[in-house]
Amino acid sequence: MLQLTLPRPDDWHLHLRDGATMGAVLPHTVQRFARAIVMPNLNPPITTTAQALAYRERIVAAIPDGGRFAPLMTLYLTENTPAEEIVRASESDHILGVKLYPAGATTHSDAGVRNLSRVMPVLEKMAELGMPLLVHGEVTDPGVDIFDREQRFIEQVLTPLLERLPELKVVLEHITTREAVEFVSTAGENLAATITAHHLLLNRNALFSGGIRPHHFCLPVLKREIHREALLAAAISGSPRFFLGTDSAPHPRHTKESSCGCAGIYTAHAAIELYAEAFEQAGALERLEGFACHFGADFYGLPRNEETITLVKESWTVPQHYPLGSGTTLVPLRAGGRIGWRIANG
Ligand code: DOR
Ligand code: ZN
Repeated sequence: MLQLTLPRPDDWHLHLRDGATMGAVLPHTVQRFARAIVMPNLNPPITTTAQALAYRERIVAAIPDGGRFAPLMTLYLTENTPAEEIVRASESDHILGVKLYPAGATTHSDAGVRNLSRVMPVLEKMAELGMPLLVHGEVTDPGVDIFDREQRFIEQVLTPLLERLPELKVVLEHITTREAVEFVSTAGENLAATITAHHLLLNRNALFSGGIRPHHFCLPVLKREIHREALLAAAISGSPRFFLGTDSAPHPRHTKESSCGCAGIYTAHAAIELYAEAFEQAGALERLEGFACHFGADFYGLPRNEETITLVKESWTVPQHYPLGSGTTLVPLRAGGRIGWRIANG
């Protein structure tokens, strides 16, 4: 039987939510990952160091018995975030970055940034203190085609920002386009990108195969096949500028199967297995370790993990849904379908 033993990977972009939902989804991540960067887009958002530390305590309390997992926290940047908050965050051992949501770009982003010039003093403080900026890279202008919003963001927002603050550390999260791959590949060493499993495995046809598929809707939205191919090439390239970030985003089933369905794909139930599938399809399983276990830790200046995890090449059927607390359910990626890798003892 084919087996693959890796250092325990890290997830550099994860939505855990809070309360019963968090309790329902956290075990999936703890089974697979040593650490995860936890997104702050709760409602209301996590905007202060005190809130982030209290949220961290709630996550730690929800880790199943015997699980070893470190949540790495982020702050949600608003136009009212004071520069002193960045100082407080950087003095805490548990806050790894600050998340920029352009207002209106995605789930719970209304409190985000409308005008980047209003947060410039905060960004300058981050550059000075070496605090990374984690970016949802899409413009929100409804006049811009939804499939072009990432590329437009790179041209209109990110390029001028990096020119103005060349020493700012930036992670362009969940990239989806060939243009983003090219931009990150040719930029300075302080720019990196995360890539999701779903953007490596699916193109935009998956949104419409036989009818509308709400469980394949996420933001940034899936793109054409040429973009998926570019993302896969970046992921398997061995470049340390591209690393794993699932963007696993749980939503109750009824909020996705709706006339106005929420954005977000749930992959935490099989995250590393799905990445293994993508790398195997590309004939590059040997490149999974750098992408999933080394490059993110190196970028954030954290030690690499020493514990290991073993994947076994054995197929299993994904449940149709998982319980999500309060009587709701969650439909995971590949629900009712098969995945060719499983975690040993998982
Ligand atoms: O699809 C997404 N879901 N994209 C995001 O940026 C946010 C996330 C969520 O929080 O549900
Ligand atoms: Zn996200």
